[in-house]
Amino acid sequence: MEKRRWRPGAGGTCTNVGCIPSKALLQSSEHFEHAKHHFADHGITATDVQIDVARMLGRKDTVVKQNNDGILYLFKKNKISFFHGRGSFLKSVEGGYEIQVAGKTEEVLVARQVVVATGSNARALPGVPFDEETVLSNDGALRIGSTPKKLALIGSGVIGLEMGSVWRRLGAEVTILEGLPTFLGAVDEQIAKEAKKAFDKQGLKIELGAKVGEVKAGKKGVSIAYTNAKGEALTLEADKLIVSIGRVPNTSGLNAQAVGLQLDERGAIVVDADCKTSLPGVWAVGDVVRGPMLAHKAEEEGVAVAERMAGQHGHVNFNTIPWVIYTSPEIAWVGRTEQQLKADGVAYKAGTFPFLANGRARALGDTTGMVKFLADAKTDEILGVHIVGPMASELIAEAVVAMEFRASSEDIARICHAHPSLSEATKEAALAVDKRTLNF
Ligand code: NAI
Repeated sequence: MEKRRWRPGAGGTCTNVGCIPSKALLQSSEHFEHAKHHFADHGITATDVQIDVARMLGRKDTVVKQNNDGILYLFKKNKISFFHGRGSFLKSVEGGYEIQVAGKTEEVLVARQVVVATGSNARALPGVPFDEETVLSNDGALRIGSTPKKLALIGSGVIGLEMGSVWRRLGAEVTILEGLPTFLGAVDEQIAKEAKKAFDKQGLKIELGAKVGEVKAGKKGVSIAYTNAKGEALTLEADKLIVSIGRVPNTSGLNAQAVGLQLDERGAIVVDADCKTSLPGVWAVGDVVRGPMLAHKAEEEGVAVAERMAGQHGHVNFNTIPWVIYTSPEIAWVGRTEQQLKADGVAYKAGTFPFLANGRARALGDTTGMVKFLADAKTDEILGVHIVGPMASELIAEAVVAMEFRASSEDIARICHAHPSLSEATKEAALAVDKRTLNF
């Protein structure tokens, strides 16, 4: 049951105001950047390259609509009834639950089994509500009507980096204020360092260790008082501010207390490893429960729950969920980072291979970054694979398969990879674990 502020749309945050529209804008802005700065390297002259932001946003909306329509088509094909409106628990009844759907009309459904997949909402800074004009969440960040001269972001996580990249490429002067002193703390340190170097070179200004104070927002712009890592009190003025400091589970409208559905202190629904809640017949998946807020994790949980309801044995391997940040260079990883292995006291071997030594990357004109393998020192089992560089989002799939099958780095090193391809860097990084790279 879906209700979005701007128009009805099946598919939740990912389809409407998350993964899909952001990737559409990332693609458009990357084309623009290529036309402006990299076509010349290929002997292509492109003069007076302009961006029509309205058209770019229109294309993004079309991509979203194609996905909405695709979902509605799948509902029809699979004989699933779609009720459009806000769903909430009314009460427990004999053998199930009454669910109210408040949309254009009000309906009450009785369900024997319920799956709650209400997702998450952007976390606001205390006292600074989103107006989606000047202070933007992920939603407003995807609807900025013209390139702002100055754009500020708070939080250099996944959304901050992706949205900051879009508007920097389109010509905005972008500053990201990050509270933590380390950049991308959850990412392997070596990979995060390499990514930071690339972002610095692009002119994406990231202030680490920034303590944000008073934020004054008006129709014309925003002023953000903050203290930098050196303790200096500064003010950042910008036309728009995107707040990307994490997300909170969407449970406030569920009327959870009416049926006694247990929530934790963050407001997330408490579930066990199988996504069972505290109530019989009620399941919960995705951003509204523990674990990473990733669409593909939610999808895996959803499928596993459907299998369990049907008496089958659903399964989700939380150790092999890939992460991707769709910046340029892309950042993708699966498994444990080097710092995690150290903290866990695991003896490991590391192997890296730079895209600089990869023929396909040179032909593409994109040689930033590397592939990094971490394997168990004794058994050689792959414990983590970390990539920063071109098409990392696609390359990571091989590592996920390898880890799912508990492959060793030698297994990958002995597999024939197409030449020339970026995936050769994966094979070479696997070879590097035993210091046997062929091309570096
Ligand atoms: P995030 O958790 O990735 O990053 C939030 C950042 O804000 C952190 O670096 C944190 O230290 C910083 N922060 C928190 N409070 C702050 C404050 N008061 N001042 C300054 N910095 C502060 O959260 P984000 O980027 O909002 O994304 C939310 C969720 O959406 C994430 O779980 C992410 O995985 C998911 N997402 C995934 C995407 C993908 O898979 N490519 C794309 C976009 C979002």
